[in-house]
Amino acid sequence: MAFSELFLQELAERNDIVDVVSGYVQLTKRSGSNLFGLCPFHSEKTPSFSVAPDKQIYHCFGCGKGGSVIGFIMEIENLSFPDAVAFLARRAGMAIPEQEDDPNARKRERMLALNREAARFFYDQLKSPEGGRAQEYLTRRQLSGRTAKNFGLGFAPDTWTSLTDAMKARGYTEQELFDAGLVRHGKKGGVYDTFRDRLMFPVIDVRGNVIGFSGRILGDGEPKYMNTPETLVFSKSHNLFGLNLAKKSKMGFIILVEGNVDVASLHQAGFDCAVASLGTSLTPEQARLLSRYTNEIVIAYDGDNAGQKAAQRAIGLLEKLDMRVRVLRMEGAKDPDEYIKTYGADAFRNLLEGSENHIEYRLQSVQRKYDLSAPEQKVAYVKEAAGVIAQLPGSVEREVYAMRVAELAGIQNAAVADEIARQRKQKLRTARKELAREQLRPVRQREKQSGVRYDNPHSAAAEEGVIRLLYLDSALFSGLEPPKEEQFSSPELRHIYSVLLSHARERRPVSLAALGETLSSQELQLLTRIIQQDDLSDRREQALRDYIHILNTDSLTGGDTDLRAYADKLKERKGYGGTTK
Ligand code: GTP
Ligand code: MN
Repeated sequence: MAFSELFLQELAERNDIVDVVSGYVQLTKRSGSNLFGLCPFHSEKTPSFSVAPDKQIYHCFGCGKGGSVIGFIMEIENLSFPDAVAFLARRAGMAIPEQEDDPNARKRERMLALNREAARFFYDQLKSPEGGRAQEYLTRRQLSGRTAKNFGLGFAPDTWTSLTDAMKARGYTEQELFDAGLVRHGKKGGVYDTFRDRLMFPVIDVRGNVIGFSGRILGDGEPKYMNTPETLVFSKSHNLFGLNLAKKSKMGFIILVEGNVDVASLHQAGFDCAVASLGTSLTPEQARLLSRYTNEIVIAYDGDNAGQKAAQRAIGLLEKLDMRVRVLRMEGAKDPDEYIKTYGADAFRNLLEGSENHIEYRLQSVQRKYDLSAPEQKVAYVKEAAGVIAQLPGSVEREVYAMRVAELAGIQNAAVADEIARQRKQKLRTARKELAREQLRPVRQREKQSGVRYDNPHSAAAEEGVIRLLYLDSALFSGLEPPKEEQFSSPELRHIYSVLLSHARERRPVSLAALGETLSSQELQLLTRIIQQDDLSDRREQALRDYIHILNTDSLTGGDTDLRAYADKLKERKGYGGTTK
């Protein structure tokens, strides 16, 4: 175990979950002892995300996510367990205990330190006389000294070992340089600098670490860019260039562009919310990362065919995450950088304000696929276009676009409207069916949310009740014969139960945060869901006896008790129940 329970306990105590969550979520409602806000992990309009200060847990009734303050930081900052612990330790001003059993943590730290040194080296080179040509290039691209500083731009000199020599002098080994992707092995042994004679863009993650580099050739030539290969700290599919700055922007949306130069040039012109994917088309991970910082994206990709195809793919990914997507169409310029240089920042701002919403853009894309002078293609066009329009929530909007499609296809408005109505009905029917299925199967649904399957779903509510009370109030168990592990119907419940029971036996206090390394993340999520439900506290003793009774009879009868009937009965009798929220 990398962290002691004692340390994790203290960490959780010094990072009150309400304080921490409030940094990300506006907790606007209070219900009982719980606070509510809009869930940061799924899109919703009414708050179903709750924080329980007394239990120091969070739980979303909508998407089922939940856990301790550490789990919250892991989820929202997209950090591993040790990284989330470090994050919270820093927040509370606590020292992190040495982690001897994680060799990668050490390595990662060294690599980040090396990258930072390398970035400083490149930056110094840019300012030195040797950097004159790079300075000239920046001037030619109209990038200011302030912009260079803002992004930490640098210059990799036109030599074979300048960086290697400088970093070795600072105590880094060739192996470390190689692992960080900063050098390559020569044919005759030895190493040489990966980046030579290039304008250097450090790639900085949202935590401010220099994780890699992107090097652009000064002028024309091949390859135009060289990027750090995948390393222990760098993955180009998981990061975006400029997000470290854009995440602080007040513009309320993020502009997604293709090139690093476009990002720099937009920031310089006052659009401090521009980011670029690192030479690949947008990945699902990058889309998710973006969704943590905004719910509106403006795509400003290059106007060429490749750029438009990439935009289509990006729209698909972003819409899946319920983000609002708009597409910028720049006439008379190949990319945002050129557009601003040619027409000025104000023109770009106008473009932003009038940028097409994604429906318009998607309708145009559909239209381009068909030859509307051929009758059978016309039919296919109307069907597909109607499918796009059917998704619009507003009826006025639907009518406006239906009319446009009708006009383009040269058919009656009513025909298009009918097709849209038909497709909407079909969509609604499917959605309603799905909803009904979910509601009919509370246990299956809960299994799905927690990813855990129960062998015997019938006794699951009672088992969960036992676990909840053991966690919240283990003193209730004194004088009682606690159930046996085998009586629990899933391996996860069994494991959770045995861990809690051993804490209770040894009279060790228990907290969700401290269990972060004993239980799997799936088990933690499950436990959170279990403990956020509440038994009325003055009924706990009786509830516990009932739960244990169910467990004992149910394992004897092989699970004949009907869970819902049981829960209903409980509710009637005592005003509590394991299945109510
Ligand atoms: P200019 O506007 O021409 O100065 O360049 P740019 O910074 O706008 O980049 P461009 O639009 O040409 O390319 C978009 C992105 O694709 C770049 O930021 C790089 O990440 C990536 N890229 C471009 N060319 C190459 C290449 O030759 N190799 C690799 N690995 N990536 C490239
Ligand atoms: Mn460009």
